[in-house]
Amino acid sequence: MNLRSVYYAISPKSRLIVRKIVYSPVDFLDFLKGRKNKYVPKKGDIFIGSGDFISQGKHHLELLKQFAFLKQDYSVLDVGCGIGRAAVPLTQYLSDKGRYEGFDVVKKGITWCKNHITKDFPNFRFKHIPLNNDLYYLTDQKAESFVFPYENNSFDTVFLFSVFTHMQPLEVQNYLNEIHRVLKPNGKCLSTFFLYNEDIEQHISKENKGFCFPYEKGGYRIMNQKVPSANIAFSEEYLNQMITKSQLKLENKIYGSWSKREVNNSLSDYQDILILEKN
Ligand SMILES: C[S@@+](CC[C@H](N)C(=O)[O-])C[C@H]1O[C@@H](n2cnc3c(N)ncnc32)[C@H](O)[C@@H]1O
Repeated sequence: MNLRSVYYAISPKSRLIVRKIVYSPVDFLDFLKGRKNKYVPKKGDIFIGSGDFISQGKHHLELLKQFAFLKQDYSVLDVGCGIGRAAVPLTQYLSDKGRYEGFDVVKKGITWCKNHITKDFPNFRFKHIPLNNDLYYLTDQKAESFVFPYENNSFDTVFLFSVFTHMQPLEVQNYLNEIHRVLKPNGKCLSTFFLYNEDIEQHISKENKGFCFPYEKGGYRIMNQKVPSANIAFSEEYLNQMITKSQLKLENKIYGSWSKREVNNSLSDYQDILILEKN
């Protein structure tokens, strides 16, 4: 059993508590030293993954500018905004005319964002939406039938960093449909995935200590049987069918480094990036 599977074996609530405990010495030291940046959560509260909070967020902003052609006065929607990793650098980029909306299933992240971001930047708004996700939050409320609480045609850009990598196919289909509904005509969606095709399926399916998707589910593969949303990879063919159903159009695909496939752009990410457009 590796560390990752131990982490998956406990409940979503316990995962938040374990993280808080593990990082409490680091956070205490930071407190003693006098924390400098009020827009960086405590390490024990960053439940959205590893890596440096600020540089990862800046990287996300660069991706949005380069691939989704984000502009300063745009209206943007951050689906699965976590604890504000992309929102923080966006406060320095979006103008007063710009508008940011974010929602997430984990209340802790949304509370932090409201207290630290909305307080200083009122055009940045966050909503907690309690929906089921076996990695992050357990409830009866289903993401596959959730209607985004926003008007039709209201966003220039919608983005999802590392969110569809934790969602089941019916949920992804519903979110793609909703993204199509809330995007303005010609609006763009930047979303990240783990994508595979027959060239790499064998390589990513091998059960080893590394990052792999051993369990085939018919069009998608999962990493862990007990927590199916822990990490999900989609076959490109299956995902293309979902995109077509949503009426979004695939504009660009930038492979990431996770699959060790040849990266096709100088600016890229660990995950694969898709740019979708509403025509
Ligand atoms: C790996 S984290 C990424 C967070 C954020 N996008 C970032 O890059 O910092 C995945 C996020 O997706 C959220 N999430 C999972 N299922 C969701 C759903 N159905 N709707 C909205 N957010 C969801 C989780 O709560 C978590 O904050």
